[in-house]
Amino acid sequence: MYPSDRTLHRFIRMAPQATSVVAAIRKFHPYSMLSDEEVFFLNALCSTLSEPARVAELGCYVGGTTCIFGEATPAGSVVEVYDLFLHNGASRQRLRDDPLFQPESFFGIWERNTAPYKDKVSLNRGDLLETCKANIEPLDIAYVDIVKHPSLINAMMHFYSRVKLGGLVLHQDYFHWQSPWLVYQMEYLRDYFDLIGDVGHNMAVYRKSRSLDAVKSVDFLTLPVDEIFELFDRAIDRYKASKAGMLKVSKLRLALEIAPERQQQITSDIETNHSDSPRVVRYLRALQASQKDLKVMW
Ligand SMILES: C[S@@+](CC[C@H](N)C(=O)[O-])C[C@H]1O[C@@H](n2cnc3c(N)ncnc32)[C@H](O)[C@@H]1O
Repeated sequence: MYPSDRTLHRFIRMAPQATSVVAAIRKFHPYSMLSDEEVFFLNALCSTLSEPARVAELGCYVGGTTCIFGEATPAGSVVEVYDLFLHNGASRQRLRDDPLFQPESFFGIWERNTAPYKDKVSLNRGDLLETCKANIEPLDIAYVDIVKHPSLINAMMHFYSRVKLGGLVLHQDYFHWQSPWLVYQMEYLRDYFDLIGDVGHNMAVYRKSRSLDAVKSVDFLTLPVDEIFELFDRAIDRYKASKAGMLKVSKLRLALEIAPERQQQITSDIETNHSDSPRVVRYLRALQASQKDLKVMW
């Protein structure tokens, strides 16, 4: 049913060259926040599933990723969609000229954009912390693009537990500084998920290898701080160049909240070793610009 590791590695290798395929996919689908490589990978993965699948899509925005799952999964598949559908400042600005624009919610825009796939969609509108409780069916794929706040990290265990052995967890924002909790969580769960590889700028792909029963009540927000940073450093050590730098920015985001005394050392490491990476520098500047709001986010 699931593509083998070899097939997934092939998709990962092909992704950077797949620009014409991606241009065609993008023409048919609404805006998504994914890079070209990530669009190619998701589409290729879903297109190779040999039987109807159950996918949980955590964070859909205006439906760009919903449409990829809707179109590329086999007939009879179910896409469980989770979102608040409430604007932040950026989406209110970006979508203001859409004929279905509403000042509070972008739900109408998502609904229009995903209408061709409505037979596959199982909608879960509202705060994921509440809506996740309604679903317990086993999952083939959990696609995670929602953990921009620590309050959501423990709820991920509900979805990981539902993923079948051999099924996949796709972390869209593994390398992004706004999702640091995922980095140490997945490192903590290394005996339960095999890392297959990473795609594009931000996505990491895992295959579930063991039941999570033994760790299902771990509280990822109260792990000892030293343990959290050890787990983080182990993740960073796997990567070189800009991916290591991006994870260090993510680690800095976490340090600002839970270990401010580490901030200076992490910042100087990033500036010394990654100032040649425009993406790392951009992420660092973005984090520094939003630093004053982090207290509120936490
Ligand atoms: C980065 S966007 C998803 C982007 C989409 N996957 C794409 O590529 O176009 C993250 C989404 O998570 C949703 N979200 C954030 N916190 C949430 C929560 N607590 N419950 C439900 N949805 C939430 C936001 O409304 C937003 O649409």
